[in-house]
Amino acid sequence: MLSHCSALRQVDSMGKVFYLSKTTVVVCSILGIGAACTIIALSVVYSQEKAKNNESLPPTEKPTTKPPVTSSPVTTPSSDNPWDQYRLPKSLVPDHYNVTLRPWLTPNETTGLYIFTGQSTVEIVCVEETDLILIHSNKLNFTKQANGQYATLKSASGGTVPSIIESFPVTKTQYLVLRLNGKLVKDHRYHVFTDFTGELADDLGGFYRSEYMEDGKKKVVATTQMQPTDARKAFPCFDEPAMKAIFHITLIHDTDKIALSNGEEKESSPITIDGKTLQQTVFKPTEKMSTYLLAFIVSDFGYINSTLDGVLIRIFARKPAIVAGQGEYALNITGPILKFFEDYYNSTYPLPKSDQIALPDFNAGAMENWGLITYRETALLYDEDFSSNSNKERIASIISHELAHMWFGNLVTLRWWNDLWLNEGFASYVEYLGADKAEPEWNVKDLMVLNDVHRVFAIDALASSHPLSSKEEDIQRPEQISELFDAISYSKGASVLRMLSDFLTEDVFKRGLQTYLDEFEFGNAIYTDLWDHLQTAVTGSSTSLPKTVHEIMNTWVLQMGYPVVTINTTTGSVTQEHFLLDPDSEVTTESPFNYEWIVPIKWLKNGDIQDPIWLQVKSALFNEMKTTGTDWVLANQDVVGYYRVNYDQANWEKLLNALSTNHEVIPVINRAQLIDDAFNLARAKIILTELALNTTKYLISERDYMPWESALDNLDFFYLMFDRSEVYGVMQAYLKNQVTPLFEHYKTMTGNWTDVPKGHLDQYNQVNAINLACRSGLEECQNLAKMWFNQWMTTGVNPIHANLRSTVYCNAIAAGGAEEWEFAWTQFKNASIAIEADKLRYALSCTTQPWLLNRYLEYTLDADMVRKQDATSTIVYIAGNVIGQSLAWDFVRDRWNYIFTQYGGGSFSFSNLINGVTERFSTDFELQQLKQFKEDNAETGFGSGTLAVDQSIERTIANIKWISENKQTVLNWFKTEAAL
Ligand SMILES: *[C@@H]1O[C@H](CO)[C@@H](O)[C@H](O)[C@H]1NC(C)=O
Ligand SMILES: *[C@@H]1O[C@H](CO)[C@@H](O)[C@H](O)[C@H]1NC(C)=O
Ligand SMILES: *[C@@H]1O[C@H](CO)[C@@H](O)[C@H](O)[C@H]1NC(C)=O
Ligand SMILES: [Zn+2]
Repeated sequence: MLSHCSALRQVDSMGKVFYLSKTTVVVCSILGIGAACTIIALSVVYSQEKAKNNESLPPTEKPTTKPPVTSSPVTTPSSDNPWDQYRLPKSLVPDHYNVTLRPWLTPNETTGLYIFTGQSTVEIVCVEETDLILIHSNKLNFTKQANGQYATLKSASGGTVPSIIESFPVTKTQYLVLRLNGKLVKDHRYHVFTDFTGELADDLGGFYRSEYMEDGKKKVVATTQMQPTDARKAFPCFDEPAMKAIFHITLIHDTDKIALSNGEEKESSPITIDGKTLQQTVFKPTEKMSTYLLAFIVSDFGYINSTLDGVLIRIFARKPAIVAGQGEYALNITGPILKFFEDYYNSTYPLPKSDQIALPDFNAGAMENWGLITYRETALLYDEDFSSNSNKERIASIISHELAHMWFGNLVTLRWWNDLWLNEGFASYVEYLGADKAEPEWNVKDLMVLNDVHRVFAIDALASSHPLSSKEEDIQRPEQISELFDAISYSKGASVLRMLSDFLTEDVFKRGLQTYLDEFEFGNAIYTDLWDHLQTAVTGSSTSLPKTVHEIMNTWVLQMGYPVVTINTTTGSVTQEHFLLDPDSEVTTESPFNYEWIVPIKWLKNGDIQDPIWLQVKSALFNEMKTTGTDWVLANQDVVGYYRVNYDQANWEKLLNALSTNHEVIPVINRAQLIDDAFNLARAKIILTELALNTTKYLISERDYMPWESALDNLDFFYLMFDRSEVYGVMQAYLKNQVTPLFEHYKTMTGNWTDVPKGHLDQYNQVNAINLACRSGLEECQNLAKMWFNQWMTTGVNPIHANLRSTVYCNAIAAGGAEEWEFAWTQFKNASIAIEADKLRYALSCTTQPWLLNRYLEYTLDADMVRKQDATSTIVYIAGNVIGQSLAWDFVRDRWNYIFTQYGGGSFSFSNLINGVTERFSTDFELQQLKQFKEDNAETGFGSGTLAVDQSIERTIANIKWISENKQTVLNWFKTEAAL
């Protein structure tokens, strides 16, 4: 699944204006003390509209001792009962299910509830004698059968069948328990039948409903989100990824609706129930698959289609969106991306059809249901007039990410959630390869350094980080599983796999991957199975490694964090050390490798590529790294390695000199790296803050996107820490001066803002230029924004190019008052495309009027005003506004109980919410408030945001310290530079 942060990222990115920190965007991040930010979180905050995927949430290296948030047991079991265990017993496995579901798209007249009804028969195989059947089930009401129990049991193998003597639901561990008066026989097959009712709630989890308006009428869609543990909310099932089975699905619905599921439609025919004529759609049986990949949808959406080598490809969305052509882009790129992955995996697409559908309400960014991928509208629908290039890139990346899962994740599935990082990290890596195939002009592969590597560096440098790999027994409860959907799993997973593919070579990586998929298709694996296959591929190739794939990768997967490699060009010594953003933080997590890594180092001397070296110990001498005269060394070419680099002072000076005299001798990705490494090394007190700030001086002549973006990501932290202090003025003066040439450059390039820059990255950097120019107070920029917005308000025709809308809207609303805000709100409510609505929703948070911000905060908890899926990100946007910060914090504190109960189920975004509203915290007073908040709500709890509360406290403490140590230095540096 892709988190919705992804979604946020793009939006945010767009515009940050004066009062707004880009980091707002952090919504998505777990954020460390660091700079950047997705889900939900976490990402580098990008200032551009760029986008990507992800989710957030802190990991769980250890199970917490807190009770689960969800519920209390119905029975009062002693903990010896098998149904008190969160994991299924090994006695029974499902073979296939026959499930019929009927979602009611109108509420029950008496109760007002939307419901669905269903019947299910599952054929189970007994692999160990047992007199107990446990099936996952959550929030389902079962109908009593003739036997007086909630289920019936029959033999499918002949012979006698024990009777069910007791049946009851267990709320805490989410089971339907059937106790028998005799044993099921090993190797015999049985049928378990249930008849049940569930609520078709608007809670974005399991079988749920999404609503939208069309032609003034409310329309309801029934849809699903099963991952990770909500299939059990749709029908009783063995809801673990290794319990693969075949599913025969039937959906019953009104005759004017269409029904979709994972499989192809087999037949659809009228059926009369209680005198009412309905439609019954029967689907062909699925392949053998995991429950979390199921999908059932009833809607009256439209679609467009094409075929590729016999595979039917369809894009579904609300009819007006289809009529407007918003599905065309997705349809056009799906074929080429599917072809790319068939080739990459050397495996034909495993299913006869590939449906993709855009839903008005969807919690994550997208979900890789096998054969029926679900998306947020913004992640699938593209409109030439409304979508920015960042929106477009995000669509290409997310489609690529989800299609990658059709094999990696769906055809071959990790056995248990503890290996989620491999599933998500892999898709987050190869999505760039697929997107690059669809859009070869974009250079998207380079952007992974900003979107994933830099982004997760910020989080993985905290003492509270966690290793990629968790132990199976440590991940049991649904919240523990949900917590794994974090930046570490996605972005660190992607980063270390990219490094692995690079040092193996792409050919070897592909070969190992192909034999892995071949061996485990339709089954399950663990992450070391992939290493085995890669090792075999290495053995048959010319790649030579200093150690085995297992040995090298263990150092990256089994311990948290990453090293800073220090190169001394006088002595040739190269050393490594665990990089901690806060050098005073205490690392309590033990590492099996004592925080040493096996580090592949690609490097340059004076711009020339050298033979790569491997650092396998703490410290070693490499004579080839010694330099004389003006020679300089630059390590981690293209930031393929997952580590930071530091140098002796003389080499730093030579690199700074190279930047200021002829920056192009340093590859563009490494220019971005030098800035990011320097700022973070300074945060860690390894180098002086002045040295980090010095890396921004050459930006006055930089035109490329990546270095600017890297600088802006890092300067965001300065904005957050200083936008309420005296440093702000001189910092603004300096940045205004640095960005003015870039602003002029784009003004010229675009013929006074009338054209669009040709290059994708140029388009991004144009947004950066306008963003920073307006934010730092360049009047010409601010006037431009106001003029455009005003033109829109007076003529009703929007003159602003989609790429610039977020930024321009935000700046204009910040400069304006109630009239601008109301205009934007009306546009938001009337927007027919979600991508436009998202830009406005973000921009509405930019106002400087406290009363407007407070009212907007109230709107976030009213689903008629702001969709539930957007509530937390909107609150975080408001907190990103320096004026909204304290209002949002007060609001969240005040409403915590309500927010938690209303938004708690199945949503991933609590950690974003908490990290987001506390991001700017940097005073003792704020620290006290935060601690009080933790204490006051100990009883309600923080759910998936539990770790985020502690992280926020840790971050606030670090911020307080950083400000006290750096404020004067930073003030002086900016004063000097601004005066020049
Ligand atoms: C509506 O709910 C009531 C009370 O639960 C129930 O008796 C009735 O059958 C329901 N109506 C329909 C049409 O299902
Ligand atoms: C499920 O349906 C299929 C196809 O109609 C049928 O062959 C199979 O016996 C059914 N299985 C169960 C457990 O009812
Ligand atoms: C299930 O039963 C509970 C308790 O009787 C009731 O409150 C709830 O509304 C029922 N749900 C559905 C979908 O009928
Ligand atoms: Zn994914």
